[in-house]
Amino acid sequence: MPQRKFSLLLALATTLAACSALAKDKASPAAGPAAVKQALLASFEAKGQAGLDRLDQDETQALCSRDPDHPLSSDEVQKIVSANTAAIRYPADGRYLGDWREGEKIAQTGTGKQFSDDPAKPAGGNCYACHQLAKGEIAYGTLGPSLYRYGKLRGQGEAMLKYTWGKIYDAEASMPCSIMPRFGHKGILTEQQIRDVMALLFDPQSPVNQ
Ligand code: HEC
Repeated sequence: MPQRKFSLLLALATTLAACSALAKDKASPAAGPAAVKQALLASFEAKGQAGLDRLDQDETQALCSRDPDHPLSSDEVQKIVSANTAAIRYPADGRYLGDWREGEKIAQTGTGKQFSDDPAKPAGGNCYACHQLAKGEIAYGTLGPSLYRYGKLRGQGEAMLKYTWGKIYDAEASMPCSIMPRFGHKGILTEQQIRDVMALLFDPQSPVNQ
């Protein structure tokens, strides 16, 4: 057999072997996530503050990224809600609202956690990337619902303040597998920064409520 034909055959055999290995991986639920993690680890490198530990999932993230052929059971959904609700830290002094002007800056800032950012500086919340907030801002994303007139529409009752704090602190507590970042839970925003974005949502003077 000519050399070229032989190497073609060899390539075909190797491909077939790889395919059947993949098919076997798919059949085993345990092999799937491990294989994905290996592929991710091989394609990223640690740089600055962006370490490879960012690929380590907590239990909530692991459940939420499970193979869609194995949807979460109601017990698992309940587990996500209760674990994340129990971990919410409400402001110790009971003050939910800070300065909306600072909140607007935080909502407009999308930097802070990238490898090239200074980890000593506060991170932004990037709220506009997913939400409409103030009417004057025309560049906003629509992955999340519009928050325009949030405080005006919902009032400032204790239950509403508590719900909203919890949502910003860790959206998983009220919406399992939400795509909203877990700002408090993951240490992206400080307690004071959360107060400031809360004020942006609730303060009657804030552009959100005009
Ligand atoms: C990556 C997109 C994304 C970013 C960034 C984001 N959110 Fe969200 N947000 C969502 C999605 C999606 C929902 C709906 C699902 C849910 O409730 O978790 C949501 C829901 C909310 C809600 C509840 C709305 C309601 O009707 O009850 C509030 C309040 C909120 N976000 C505030 C914020 C604030 C404040 C920021 C910035 C600090 C922010 N979000 C950043 C995607 C995002």
